[in-house]
Amino acid sequence: PEFRVFPTAEATAEAVAAYLAEQLASTPAMRLGLATGNTFVPIYAALVELYKAGGFSFARTESFNLDEYIGLPPGHPASFAAYMQQHLFSQVDLPEGRGHLPGVLGDVAAACTAYEAAISAGGGIDLQLLGIGRNGHIGFNEPGSAFDSRAREVALTASTREANKGDFPPGESVPPAAVTMGIGTILEARQIVLVAIGASKIEALDAAFRQAPSPDCPASALQAHPNVIVFADSAAIPNGV
Ligand code: F6R
Repeated sequence: PEFRVFPTAEATAEAVAAYLAEQLASTPAMRLGLATGNTFVPIYAALVELYKAGGFSFARTESFNLDEYIGLPPGHPASFAAYMQQHLFSQVDLPEGRGHLPGVLGDVAAACTAYEAAISAGGGIDLQLLGIGRNGHIGFNEPGSAFDSRAREVALTASTREANKGDFPPGESVPPAAVTMGIGTILEARQIVLVAIGASKIEALDAAFRQAPSPDCPASALQAHPNVIVFADSAAIPNGV
């Protein structure tokens, strides 16, 4: 991959937002794969600022989120649907119904098949945003996930549930299961932008890009993708690239 490393978390977020704004300006009908998590809060905030300043629009865009928890009541504040509404969808001109998240109600396997079909039907994803878990997960593809996996129901590891505890009200536990795009789904995106902020991601980045690919580190599957840009702050890449 190409690495772009910045001195601070803020500078990294601004650079990612500027890159996305540039891509949206040149390809207004872009199909975006979106991620959630702490990493993307300042990125969406910066992107909304740039959007308000003008020069690009989401009017012709369609988006597909990576993942969603199973078992939360609709509208739950820790759901990724609520996160997307709050941080992006309600603040830009993305048409109603064009920001998709994986279905988690009813027949989850059927919803996964439908999600994959919706992604393919429009010609696939042009640009997929990814964070990275401390254990190297991408989406909610935890260690051991097959590199050709597709959208499906997955069990979350104890470490991921612990890492995401802060998003939930005190006393509420993180759901044990989620739906995620598969690693195979992610690898079909034409371009991938992975963002890693902070020292808690040092080991995951090392396993992803400096060691041989292995299902022990799901993000290492990205070594096989021809068009990956990694945006990171220097805390996540302490020894440079
Ligand atoms: C979020 C997602 C996850 C996160 C990862 C990092 O949609 O798929 O893979 O990107 O858990 O989360 P943060 O940014 O909170 O460290």
